[in-house]
Amino acid sequence: MWVRTGENKLLKVGIVGGSGYVGGELIRLLVGHNNVEIVSVSSTSHSGEKISRVHPDLYGLTDLKFENISPVDMAGKVDLIFLALPHGTSIKYVPDLVETGVKIIDMSADFRLKDHTLYRQWYGYDHGYPDIIKKFVYGMPELHREEIKNAKFIATPGCIASSSIYSIAPFLSLDTDSNIINVDAKVGSSGSGSGLDESKVFSERFGSVRAYKPVGHRHTPEIEQELEYASGKKVKIALSAHSVNMVRGILTTSSIYAYQDEISLWALLKKFYGNEKFVRLIMDRKSNYKYPDPKTVVGSNFVDIGFALDRYVKRIVSFGAIDNLIKGAAGNAVQSMNIMNGFPEYESLMAPSLFPV
Ligand SMILES: NC(=O)c1ccc[n+]([C@@H]2O[C@H](COP(=O)([O-])OP(=O)(O)OC[C@H]3O[C@@H](n4cnc5c(N)ncnc54)[C@H](OP(=O)(O)O)[C@@H]3O)[C@@H](O)[C@H]2O)c1
Repeated sequence: MWVRTGENKLLKVGIVGGSGYVGGELIRLLVGHNNVEIVSVSSTSHSGEKISRVHPDLYGLTDLKFENISPVDMAGKVDLIFLALPHGTSIKYVPDLVETGVKIIDMSADFRLKDHTLYRQWYGYDHGYPDIIKKFVYGMPELHREEIKNAKFIATPGCIASSSIYSIAPFLSLDTDSNIINVDAKVGSSGSGSGLDESKVFSERFGSVRAYKPVGHRHTPEIEQELEYASGKKVKIALSAHSVNMVRGILTTSSIYAYQDEISLWALLKKFYGNEKFVRLIMDRKSNYKYPDPKTVVGSNFVDIGFALDRYVKRIVSFGAIDNLIKGAAGNAVQSMNIMNGFPEYESLMAPSLFPV
């Protein structure tokens, strides 16, 4: 089993929905965390089975088994609970969990949108808990670090939303010719979770570039909300999402109708992100990887950002690349957990990406 260094007092955590991809990634990041003990991991479909049977990368690293335990019962055993559940499911448990006093980090979209009326339009259900939404902080450390420090409840950003927000926000301090920003997202198969449907069968998925959500993607209002928070400007996001031939990774390519010389734009990016450890600016034009590429972030908590300048149409084409399960989900959740509990912010997150993959 994993051996911890040091003698820290351990935060007891539980993971609901631990058999899914995000749940597995949370366990992977937390199993060697110096300040955390995983006490309970729930699954209804794998109850009683060893975690490593479902997440074979964890073989030999944990003896834990999945439990069929309700979130409220789990809250009685832990200090902090991660909800790695589908949207529309977390919301069924959160109101009761809030009453227990446990800290919550929700990976779903159920508490991300500040305007609760948007849930009907984008998620197809009426959100009856606007007062609870107000208690949640959007778990993007680079934009909300101070709020996260004092938060008890975190709503972790969506994966496409993360890549888009990180790579667009810095440019919105410029004057733009249009308030519409086009975002093209290319998403690996793990982005849609471990559940099965026909479109995920190997023979259907392999080799295809499928426009699975060319319009109406659910992350649209979340991106708009956070870009307004970061820049003070209202923008409209025209998002088209494609599934591509990768397991992990997202590349977002965004058109921002603004123009400035390249040196000023690099300066702007550097100023916006300062010393942020997990934001890398990709600016080596002689490299094979001139622009961000999911291939170079997979396995890490990095978000890579870069841009090209279109002199013809006067636009900035900005790129964001992340591992959807890490900087797009479990990595930001663990980073938020570290900040809210006063742990070293980078604990368990500094592994470099795998290369080549
Ligand atoms: N995949 C990504 O890249 C990504 C990125 C950012 C955010 N997210 C969000 O993170 C959450 C989890 O995503 P995922 O990709 O891990 O999905 P997933 O692989 O489908 O896992 C979800 C897990 O939730 C459990 N579950 C499903 N319905 C449930 C219910 N009604 N009650 C209790 N448990 C239920 C299932 O476990 P059992 O059936 O074993 O109980 C399942 O393993 C989602 O809200 C997703 O939108 C995902």
